[in-house]
Amino acid sequence: MRILLVAGAYNSLTQRVHAELRDRRHAVAVEVTPHGSAVRAAVQRHRPDLVVAPLLKAVVPRDVWTACTCLIVHPGPVGDRGPSSLDWAIDEDVDAWGVTVLQAAEEMDAGDVWATVGFPVPRVAKSDLYRNEVSDAAIEAVLLAVDRFASGNYVPRPQSGLRQTVAARTRPYFGQAMRRISWHDDSTETVLRKLRGADSQPGVRDELLGGEWFLHGGHAEDALRGRPGELLATRAGAVCRATADGAVWIPEVRARRGPGLPRACKLPATLALADRLPSLPEIPAPLYPAEGHGTWSDIHYREEGPVGVLSFSFPGGAMSTGHCRRLLDAYRAACSRPTAVLVLGGSRDFLSNGIHLNVIEAAADPAAESWANINAMNDLVEAVLTTTDRLVVSAIGGNAAAGGVMLALAADEVWCRSGSVLNPHYRRMGLYGSEYWTYTLPRRVGAPMAKRLTEEARPVTAAGAQSMGLVDRVVNCGPQDFTAEVTRLAARLAALPTAQLRVVTKKAESERRASTKPLAAYRAEELAHMLRTFTAPEAPYHALRRAFVRKQDAPADFGSEGAVAARPADC
Ligand code: COA
Repeated sequence: MRILLVAGAYNSLTQRVHAELRDRRHAVAVEVTPHGSAVRAAVQRHRPDLVVAPLLKAVVPRDVWTACTCLIVHPGPVGDRGPSSLDWAIDEDVDAWGVTVLQAAEEMDAGDVWATVGFPVPRVAKSDLYRNEVSDAAIEAVLLAVDRFASGNYVPRPQSGLRQTVAARTRPYFGQAMRRISWHDDSTETVLRKLRGADSQPGVRDELLGGEWFLHGGHAEDALRGRPGELLATRAGAVCRATADGAVWIPEVRARRGPGLPRACKLPATLALADRLPSLPEIPAPLYPAEGHGTWSDIHYREEGPVGVLSFSFPGGAMSTGHCRRLLDAYRAACSRPTAVLVLGGSRDFLSNGIHLNVIEAAADPAAESWANINAMNDLVEAVLTTTDRLVVSAIGGNAAAGGVMLALAADEVWCRSGSVLNPHYRRMGLYGSEYWTYTLPRRVGAPMAKRLTEEARPVTAAGAQSMGLVDRVVNCGPQDFTAEVTRLAARLAALPTAQLRVVTKKAESERRASTKPLAAYRAEELAHMLRTFTAPEAPYHALRRAFVRKQDAPADFGSEGAVAARPADC
């Protein structure tokens, strides 16, 4: 079928719907627009059989949906209506929710139902929930709806005729007034719920150290205590703040700017607050948290028999110089342990999206920070590539992009969850790329496919990635089960009689390769490209990065090779 996707942004869900429909051989065009009128023009241009809107805030004009079937993906069960469904679901602490594919109609979210799929709601941040459980349910519902439409004989059901788990109602926009934290009155549980519902956007507006900030992310702390609202400590860029009955870690904040000023970057809290932060103890995160230990750490290590699992979770998958160095230290510590298989990753949500563009943008010298960050990332990747005494498995629980995908490719085996979307390219940021991709990517998928992936800059589904050899195994499970499933599979790998032989062969093979072309040569060639880009103020990278971190449209004309429009092309 000819399907037109319309979306307010080419976000992960739109990318996944796009890639999944393409995998099923539909001819898919994408129109990224916040305006209903542009939908009309796109429909006239593409003349699709079906319009699907995975993420649309604009209203589809009446003349469009009367002329062509338009399916709207609503992140709520049948009966739920309004623009803040997930915010309300988290606020009400529901344990199950749904996604419904509705036909566009006069009243928003009130159209007939083509498909609806439920999902469990773990206590994770809204954006994590969206990229994982919501995304899985949305794909199931969209594919079902598309098949039903294609059958030609399915009649969508009016909402009134379906069993509803929530009363039919339109709930209002979930504004900052409802998110407000009262540090003196709110318990840790309440504070965490408010932070979860606002993460990653819009954050919770708050006053802190004489300024106005949006707080992003939140994790419980089980030991530190203090006067409610007081800052108690720092850890890995986060600040710990006392609640009415405990304390929470807040990893990132964003300054509130006045109207007309460009949007501030979301940054690690200690970096954003650096000029006003009082002297606070830096309490290092425990790398090996004890069972039941309730504090927060962005890097964890645990062992189960011959398997070591080094997991990490950085907001937005962005890895600053500091993140890379801390993870490298943890990786070296993990390699000093007597394990046969080391799993890198293995937690839900993003593995990595490469260098930290916000921290780079906020640096006094973004070129120098870009350089430091890519070198720190390369050091980490090199450590993985040169691990020859055990098998290393990268386990991608959610999405990964750019250098984050290449980090995964450094391992002996790459496993990813069935719902992952991978973007193994750098072009949308105007970068040549590094992380030894010129060594790993062609070796996995062949030179022609490597060229296609990096030049076309398209998202790839987990199944697509497996069929081209980018990943070795697709782990078919829900986001919450990924860690346990990966640990089980890694134990099975460690127990294989061939495991030890593989380690011996891998060592010999990497020595043979190094004698033909040492890893350092790949790194030097890639970094020469990167340095040219970083130090050329007119290089598209700088304007693209600025637009990305401020959430502005990418500049329309980048004026040089190496960058492509952020808006996806037809295909
Ligand atoms: N640096 C800083 N922040 C990043 C980031 C990076 N490399 N990659 C993603 N993020 C942030 C986003 O700004 C977003 O922040 P928000 O939640 O506050 O809005 C969050 O992480 C999630 O990303 P988002 O773009 O909403 O997710 P997505 O799943 O829709 O899209 C990508 C994922 C990877 C396609 C997109 O984020 C992207 O292009 N990232 C840049 C990748 C890159 O070029 N890295 C540098 C080269 S190594």
